[in-house]
Amino acid sequence: MSEPGIDVADLTVRFEGNVAVDTVSLSAPMGRLTGLIGPNGAGKTTTFNVCSGLLRPAVGRISLFGVDVTRRGPAARARRGLGRTFQRMELFTSMTVGENVALGREARLAGSNPLWQQMATRRQRTTVRESTAEALEVCGITGLAAETVQSLSTGQRRLVELARVYAGDFRMLLLDEPSSGLDHAESEHLGRILRSLVEDRGVGILLVEHDMALVMNVCDYLYVLDFGRLVFQGTPAETQASPIVRAAYLGAEDLMEMADLSDPTGGEG
Ligand SMILES: Nc1ncnc2c1ncn2[C@@H]1O[C@H](COP(=O)(O)OP(=O)(O)OP(=O)(O)O)[C@@H](O)[C@H]1O
Ligand SMILES: [Mg+2]
Repeated sequence: MSEPGIDVADLTVRFEGNVAVDTVSLSAPMGRLTGLIGPNGAGKTTTFNVCSGLLRPAVGRISLFGVDVTRRGPAARARRGLGRTFQRMELFTSMTVGENVALGREARLAGSNPLWQQMATRRQRTTVRESTAEALEVCGITGLAAETVQSLSTGQRRLVELARVYAGDFRMLLLDEPSSGLDHAESEHLGRILRSLVEDRGVGILLVEHDMALVMNVCDYLYVLDFGRLVFQGTPAETQASPIVRAAYLGAEDLMEMADLSDPTGGEG
Protein backbone atom coordinates (compact mmCIF):
# COMPACT_ATOMS: atom_id res chain seq x y z
CA MET A 1 0.00 0.00 0.00
CA SER A 2 1.21 3.51 -0.77
CA GLU A 3 2.00 6.02 1.95
CA PRO A 4 -0.96 8.32 2.65
CA GLY A 5 -0.75 11.91 1.42
CA ILE A 6 -4.00 13.81 1.55
CA ASP A 7 -7.32 12.02 2.07
CA VAL A 8 -10.74 13.58 1.79
CA ALA A 9 -13.64 11.68 3.38
CA ASP A 10 -17.34 12.42 2.84
CA LEU A 11 -16.74 16.11 2.21
CA THR A 12 -19.70 18.46 1.88
CA VAL A 13 -19.36 22.25 1.48
CA ARG A 14 -22.26 24.68 1.30
CA PHE A 15 -22.24 28.36 0.36
CA GLU A 16 -25.35 30.19 1.60
CA GLY A 17 -27.36 27.01 1.40
CA ASN A 18 -26.04 25.97 -2.04
CA VAL A 19 -24.11 22.72 -2.09
CA ALA A 20 -20.76 23.30 -3.83
CA VAL A 21 -19.24 19.95 -2.88
CA ASP A 22 -21.46 16.97 -2.12
CA THR A 23 -20.19 13.93 -0.19
CA VAL A 24 -16.87 13.70 -1.99
CA SER A 25 -14.15 11.23 -0.96
CA LEU A 26 -10.76 11.00 -2.62
CA SER A 27 -7.18 9.94 -1.92
CA ALA A 28 -3.97 11.49 -3.21
CA PRO A 29 -1.13 9.31 -1.87
CA MET A 30 2.59 10.07 -1.84
CA GLY A 31 4.60 9.29 -4.94
CA ARG A 32 1.57 9.65 -7.18
CA LEU A 33 0.13 12.34 -9.39
CA THR A 34 -3.59 12.46 -8.76
CA GLY A 35 -5.80 14.61 -10.97
CA LEU A 36 -9.03 16.34 -10.00
CA ILE A 37 -10.96 17.39 -13.08
CA GLY A 38 -14.45 18.54 -14.01
CA PRO A 39 -16.29 21.37 -15.77
CA ASN A 40 -16.31 24.98 -14.53
CA GLY A 41 -17.95 25.35 -11.15
CA ALA A 42 -17.73 21.61 -10.41
CA GLY A 43 -16.19 22.24 -6.99
CA LYS A 44 -12.47 21.65 -7.63
CA THR A 45 -11.09 24.83 -6.08
CA THR A 46 -13.53 24.53 -3.19
CA THR A 47 -12.23 21.01 -2.49
CA PHE A 48 -8.67 22.39 -2.62
CA ASN A 49 -9.53 25.16 -0.20
CA VAL A 50 -10.84 22.63 2.27
CA CYS A 51 -7.71 20.49 1.83
CA SER A 52 -5.41 23.43 2.54
CA GLY A 53 -7.55 24.61 5.47
CA LEU A 54 -8.82 27.90 3.98
CA LEU A 55 -12.40 26.66 4.16
CA ARG A 56 -14.16 24.72 6.91
CA PRO A 57 -16.39 21.94 5.62
CA ALA A 58 -19.99 21.50 6.76
CA VAL A 59 -19.40 17.77 6.84
CA GLY A 60 -16.37 15.55 6.27
CA ARG A 61 -12.79 14.88 7.31
CA ILE A 62 -9.40 15.75 5.87
CA SER A 63 -6.34 13.64 6.72
CA LEU A 64 -2.78 14.64 5.96
CA PHE A 65 -0.15 11.87 6.08
CA GLY A 66 -2.65 9.73 7.94
CA VAL A 67 -3.43 12.33 10.63
CA ASP A 68 -6.83 14.04 10.93
CA VAL A 69 -6.27 17.77 10.28
CA THR A 70 -9.90 18.79 9.76
CA ARG A 71 -9.71 21.20 12.67
CA ARG A 72 -6.22 22.48 11.88
CA GLY A 73 -5.72 25.81 10.11
CA PRO A 74 -3.70 26.42 6.92
CA ALA A 75 -0.47 27.27 8.81
CA ALA A 76 -0.53 24.04 10.82
CA ARG A 77 -1.08 22.02 7.64
CA ALA A 78 1.75 23.86 5.87
CA ARG A 79 4.08 23.11 8.81
CA ARG A 80 3.31 19.43 8.38
CA GLY A 81 4.35 19.62 4.74
CA LEU A 82 1.33 20.65 2.65
CA GLY A 83 2.02 23.28 -0.03
CA ARG A 84 -0.30 24.82 -2.58
CA THR A 85 -0.48 27.18 -5.53
CA PHE A 86 -3.45 29.32 -6.45
CA GLN A 87 -5.61 29.45 -9.58
CA ARG A 88 -4.66 33.15 -9.84
CA MET A 89 -0.91 33.50 -9.45
CA GLU A 90 0.37 35.40 -6.46
CA LEU A 91 3.93 36.36 -7.26
CA PHE A 92 5.67 39.56 -6.22
CA THR A 93 6.21 41.09 -9.64
CA SER A 94 8.77 43.76 -8.72
CA MET A 95 11.01 41.21 -6.98
CA THR A 96 13.41 38.91 -8.79
CA VAL A 97 12.72 35.28 -9.60
CA GLY A 98 15.32 34.21 -7.03
CA GLU A 99 13.72 36.34 -4.31
CA ASN A 100 10.27 34.99 -5.06
CA VAL A 101 11.48 31.41 -4.90
CA ALA A 102 13.46 32.04 -1.69
CA LEU A 103 10.26 33.30 -0.08
CA GLY A 104 8.84 29.80 -0.38
CA ARG A 105 11.47 28.50 2.03
CA GLU A 106 11.63 31.61 4.21
CA ALA A 107 7.91 31.54 4.84
CA ARG A 108 8.17 27.91 5.88
CA LEU A 109 11.04 28.59 8.31
CA ALA A 110 9.55 31.80 9.64
CA GLY A 111 6.22 30.22 10.54
CA SER A 112 4.35 32.88 12.48
CA ASN A 113 7.50 34.61 13.76
CA PRO A 114 7.53 38.20 12.42
CA LEU A 115 11.14 38.71 13.58
CA TRP A 116 12.44 35.80 11.56
CA GLN A 117 14.53 38.00 9.24
CA GLN A 118 16.52 39.33 12.20
CA MET A 119 16.70 36.05 14.06
CA ALA A 120 17.56 33.60 11.28
CA THR A 121 20.70 31.60 11.97
CA ARG A 122 23.51 31.22 9.48
CA ARG A 123 22.40 27.62 9.02
CA GLN A 124 18.83 28.69 8.15
CA ARG A 125 20.13 31.24 5.64
CA THR A 126 22.20 28.49 4.03
CA THR A 127 19.11 26.28 3.90
CA VAL A 128 17.18 29.04 2.12
CA ARG A 129 20.00 29.54 -0.38
CA GLU A 130 20.37 25.84 -1.11
CA SER A 131 16.63 25.16 -1.38
CA THR A 132 16.23 28.12 -3.71
CA ALA A 133 19.06 26.95 -5.96
CA GLU A 134 17.68 23.42 -6.09
CA ALA A 135 14.12 24.57 -6.85
CA LEU A 136 15.32 26.86 -9.65
CA GLU A 137 17.32 23.97 -11.07
CA VAL A 138 14.46 21.44 -10.85
CA CYS A 139 12.13 23.86 -12.64
CA GLY A 140 14.74 24.78 -15.25
CA ILE A 141 14.78 28.52 -14.48
CA THR A 142 18.23 28.99 -12.91
CA GLY A 143 19.08 31.34 -15.77
CA LEU A 144 16.18 33.61 -14.84
CA ALA A 145 17.10 34.01 -11.14
CA ALA A 146 18.15 37.66 -11.42
CA GLU A 147 15.25 38.76 -13.64
CA THR A 148 12.29 40.58 -12.13
CA VAL A 149 9.04 38.65 -12.41
CA GLN A 150 7.34 41.47 -14.32
CA SER A 151 9.74 40.90 -17.23
CA LEU A 152 8.70 37.24 -17.62
CA SER A 153 6.15 35.51 -19.83
CA THR A 154 3.15 33.81 -18.24
CA GLY A 155 4.76 30.43 -18.86
CA GLN A 156 7.92 31.45 -17.04
CA ARG A 157 5.87 32.88 -14.17
CA ARG A 158 4.07 29.56 -13.75
CA LEU A 159 7.45 27.86 -13.37
CA VAL A 160 8.50 30.44 -10.78
CA GLU A 161 5.33 29.71 -8.85
CA LEU A 162 6.04 25.99 -8.95
CA ALA A 163 9.67 26.57 -7.90
CA ARG A 164 8.50 28.68 -4.97
CA VAL A 165 6.23 25.99 -3.61
CA TYR A 166 8.90 23.36 -4.28
CA ALA A 167 11.52 25.39 -2.38
CA GLY A 168 9.25 25.22 0.67
CA ASP A 169 10.18 21.55 1.03
CA PHE A 170 6.57 20.46 1.01
CA ARG A 171 5.99 16.74 0.64
CA MET A 172 2.42 17.08 -0.63
CA LEU A 173 1.48 19.68 -3.24
CA LEU A 174 -1.92 21.01 -4.25
CA LEU A 175 -1.64 22.65 -7.68
CA ASP A 176 -4.62 24.63 -9.00
CA GLU A 177 -4.38 25.01 -12.79
CA PRO A 178 -0.60 25.34 -12.99
CA SER A 179 -0.68 25.26 -16.80
CA SER A 180 -3.17 28.05 -17.34
CA GLY A 181 -1.66 30.54 -19.78
CA LEU A 182 1.01 28.12 -21.02
CA ASP A 183 1.52 27.15 -24.65
CA HIS A 184 1.77 23.52 -25.74
CA ALA A 185 5.57 23.23 -25.35
CA GLU A 186 5.55 24.96 -21.96
CA SER A 187 2.77 22.63 -20.77
CA GLU A 188 4.82 19.61 -21.78
CA HIS A 189 7.82 21.01 -19.92
CA LEU A 190 5.66 21.53 -16.84
CA GLY A 191 4.38 17.97 -17.14
CA ARG A 192 7.93 16.59 -17.15
CA ILE A 193 8.79 18.58 -14.03
CA LEU A 194 5.68 17.30 -12.24
CA ARG A 195 6.51 13.69 -13.17
CA SER A 196 10.04 14.10 -11.90
CA LEU A 197 8.81 15.52 -8.58
CA VAL A 198 6.64 12.44 -8.12
CA GLU A 199 9.01 9.78 -9.46
CA ASP A 200 12.42 11.04 -8.35
CA ARG A 201 11.49 12.78 -5.12
CA GLY A 202 8.43 10.84 -3.96
CA VAL A 203 6.30 13.98 -3.62
CA GLY A 204 2.51 13.56 -3.68
CA ILE A 205 0.59 15.88 -6.01
CA LEU A 206 -3.10 16.66 -6.30
CA LEU A 207 -3.59 18.52 -9.55
CA VAL A 208 -6.58 20.57 -10.73
CA GLU A 209 -6.21 21.21 -14.43
CA HIS A 210 -8.29 22.10 -17.48
CA ASP A 211 -5.57 21.16 -19.97
CA MET A 212 -6.72 17.63 -20.78
CA ALA A 213 -3.58 16.79 -22.74
CA LEU A 214 -1.51 17.50 -19.66
CA VAL A 215 -3.87 15.68 -17.31
CA MET A 216 -4.05 12.56 -19.45
CA ASN A 217 -0.30 12.45 -20.01
CA VAL A 218 0.95 13.01 -16.49
CA CYS A 219 -1.65 11.76 -14.00
CA ASP A 220 -1.61 8.28 -12.50
CA TYR A 221 -5.21 8.41 -11.38
CA LEU A 222 -8.16 10.78 -11.85
CA TYR A 223 -11.22 11.92 -9.96
CA VAL A 224 -13.99 13.64 -11.92
CA LEU A 225 -16.35 16.12 -10.30
CA ASP A 226 -19.58 17.44 -11.78
CA PHE A 227 -21.94 19.78 -9.92
CA GLY A 228 -20.09 19.03 -6.69
CA ARG A 229 -20.40 15.28 -6.99
CA LEU A 230 -17.79 12.68 -7.75
CA VAL A 231 -19.07 11.11 -10.97
CA PHE A 232 -16.07 8.96 -11.89
CA GLN A 233 -12.66 7.78 -10.76
CA GLY A 234 -10.08 5.71 -12.59
CA THR A 235 -6.93 5.76 -14.69
CA PRO A 236 -6.65 8.33 -17.49
CA ALA A 237 -7.48 5.62 -20.05
CA GLU A 238 -10.59 4.54 -18.13
CA THR A 239 -11.62 8.17 -17.73
CA GLN A 240 -11.32 8.90 -21.44
CA ALA A 241 -13.44 5.86 -22.23
CA SER A 242 -16.17 6.73 -19.72
CA PRO A 243 -19.56 7.81 -21.12
CA ILE A 244 -20.37 9.36 -17.73
CA VAL A 245 -17.34 11.62 -18.01
CA ARG A 246 -18.15 12.54 -21.59
CA ALA A 247 -21.65 13.49 -20.55
CA ALA A 248 -20.34 15.63 -17.70
CA TYR A 249 -18.47 17.85 -20.11
CA LEU A 250 -20.85 19.92 -22.20
CA GLY A 251 -18.26 20.45 -24.91
CA ALA A 252 -17.78 16.75 -25.53
CA GLU A 253 -15.22 17.60 -28.26
CA ASP A 254 -12.68 18.16 -25.49
CA LEU A 255 -13.07 14.57 -24.48
CA MET A 256 -12.93 13.36 -28.07
CA GLU A 257 -9.63 15.20 -28.40
CA MET A 258 -8.45 13.52 -25.23
CA ALA A 259 -8.73 10.19 -26.99
CA ASP A 260 -6.07 11.24 -29.51
CA LEU A 261 -3.48 12.14 -26.95
CA SER A 262 -1.53 8.92 -27.15
CA ASP A 263 -0.56 10.12 -30.63
CA PRO A 264 3.18 10.83 -30.18
CA THR A 265 3.01 13.82 -32.53
CA GLY A 266 0.65 15.38 -29.96
CA GLY A 267 -1.78 16.30 -32.73
CA GLU A 268 0.48 19.14 -33.82
CA GLY A 269 0.79 20.39 -37.36
N1 LIG B 1 -17.01 31.92 -1.84
C1 LIG B 1 -18.07 31.45 -2.49
N2 LIG B 1 -19.32 31.87 -2.19
C2 LIG B 1 -20.39 31.36 -2.83
N3 LIG B 1 -20.33 30.42 -3.80
C3 LIG B 1 -19.11 29.97 -4.14
C4 LIG B 1 -17.93 30.46 -3.52
N4 LIG B 1 -16.86 29.80 -4.06
C5 LIG B 1 -17.36 28.95 -4.97
N5 LIG B 1 -18.72 29.05 -5.03
C6 LIG B 1 -19.60 28.24 -5.88
O1 LIG B 1 -19.30 26.87 -5.63
C7 LIG B 1 -19.31 26.11 -6.83
C8 LIG B 1 -17.95 25.45 -7.01
O2 LIG B 1 -16.97 26.44 -7.30
P1 LIG B 1 -15.43 26.12 -7.49
O3 LIG B 1 -14.72 27.41 -7.58
O4 LIG B 1 -15.00 25.17 -6.45
O5 LIG B 1 -15.43 25.39 -8.90
P2 LIG B 1 -14.20 24.92 -9.82
O6 LIG B 1 -14.46 23.50 -10.13
O7 LIG B 1 -12.91 25.29 -9.20
O8 LIG B 1 -14.45 25.78 -11.14
P3 LIG B 1 -13.39 26.40 -12.20
O9 LIG B 1 -13.04 25.28 -13.12
O10 LIG B 1 -14.20 27.45 -12.92
O11 LIG B 1 -12.23 26.96 -11.46
C9 LIG B 1 -19.68 27.08 -7.94
O12 LIG B 1 -21.07 26.99 -8.14
C10 LIG B 1 -19.32 28.43 -7.37
O13 LIG B 1 -20.11 29.44 -7.91
MG1 LIG C 1 -11.32 26.53 -9.76
